[in-house]
Amino acid sequence: MADDERILSDQPIDENENVIEKSLRPHLLKEYIGQDKIKTELQVYIKAAKQREEAMDHVLLFGPPGLGKTTLAFVIANELGVNIRTTAGPAIEKSGDLLSVLSELQAGDVLFIDEIHRLPRAVEETLYSAMEDFYVDIIVGQGPTAHPVHFPLPPFTLIGATTRAGLLSAPLRDRFGILASLNYYEYKDLQEIVQRSADVLQTHITPEAAMEVALRARGTPRVANRLLKRVRDFAEVSDQEVIDETLAAKALTQLRVDRSGLDQVDRRLLKMMIDLYDGGPVGLNTIAVNIGEDVETVETMYEPFLLQNGFLKRTSRGRMVTPKAYQHLGLAMPEQK
Ligand SMILES: Nc1ncnc2c1ncn2[C@@H]1O[C@H](COP(=O)(O)OP(=O)(O)OP(=O)(O)O)[C@@H](O)[C@H]1O
Ligand SMILES: [Mg+2]
Repeated sequence: MADDERILSDQPIDENENVIEKSLRPHLLKEYIGQDKIKTELQVYIKAAKQREEAMDHVLLFGPPGLGKTTLAFVIANELGVNIRTTAGPAIEKSGDLLSVLSELQAGDVLFIDEIHRLPRAVEETLYSAMEDFYVDIIVGQGPTAHPVHFPLPPFTLIGATTRAGLLSAPLRDRFGILASLNYYEYKDLQEIVQRSADVLQTHITPEAAMEVALRARGTPRVANRLLKRVRDFAEVSDQEVIDETLAAKALTQLRVDRSGLDQVDRRLLKMMIDLYDGGPVGLNTIAVNIGEDVETVETMYEPFLLQNGFLKRTSRGRMVTPKAYQHLGLAMPEQK
């Protein structure tokens, strides 16, 4: 594995990944592992919408990359038995672009807008009436011939996804009836995801080895699947038919993800805060500059996991490294902390 290759990256790690990722996607709610609270709720809404033969309420999915937002959007459409059209915030530049997407929808269909926090303001405002009353008013023509045109729309379900709920404007957020915040997965759920993916990939893995992968997956299905693929390559090269714990541990150590799910950037981040700032407090921008990542990446990819797992804490003056992080890195805590 190349030094700069990142198992946690939010970009595909190779050209094959998108294809494999699609093949690993569950299609039904009952195949979608974990996130039980969200699934239970959705089950009710889906059933109700189907019984009433109405479009389901709009859904906002938020959570860190790779937790299954896109997957869930497809599962919902599938369970509703409707078509899904997908687009992304940055792809819709003008209200007219939005109208062309909306006008292709049939009654009850799902429109999935990924990175919905990146919709241009004017487009977002056009979306309000579409979401609330299923119409858009658009100005057609320019100068003296400009006039508003009223376009009625079929009732549809908007599913928006964002890694940054905090950036969503209140008026947009308020127009979603169903808000679902995805959490990092528990180890046993990740273990199940690994076993399911292994089945799809026709690979044999023992439950212990699947747990070994789960432990290092940082609570994230996408990472779990990536690690599984690497472990599978390793097994093939070593001519081993079943992935067992020993093989998994060996392969995973080579990937430099430790058993707390921290990769080399996480460790570099924590160590930098300790070496340069005595463990903090350090501002987000300073952290980003020092580890050569942009602020958004630090905020959506690294920080939430480190905070949730108690390696970092937030204070009014910035982020601080916790005793757990010192311990994890095998470093002594300074006296005065
Ligand atoms: N609950 C789940 N059960 C089984 N597999 C899952 C689950 N959630 C996600 N996955 C797998 O993880 C991979 C990544 O999921 P997905 O692309 O839906 O994440 P995402 O939240 O949309 O990420 P991003 O924010 O980067 O768009 C998919 O290939 C999917 O197979
Ligand atoms: Mg996605």
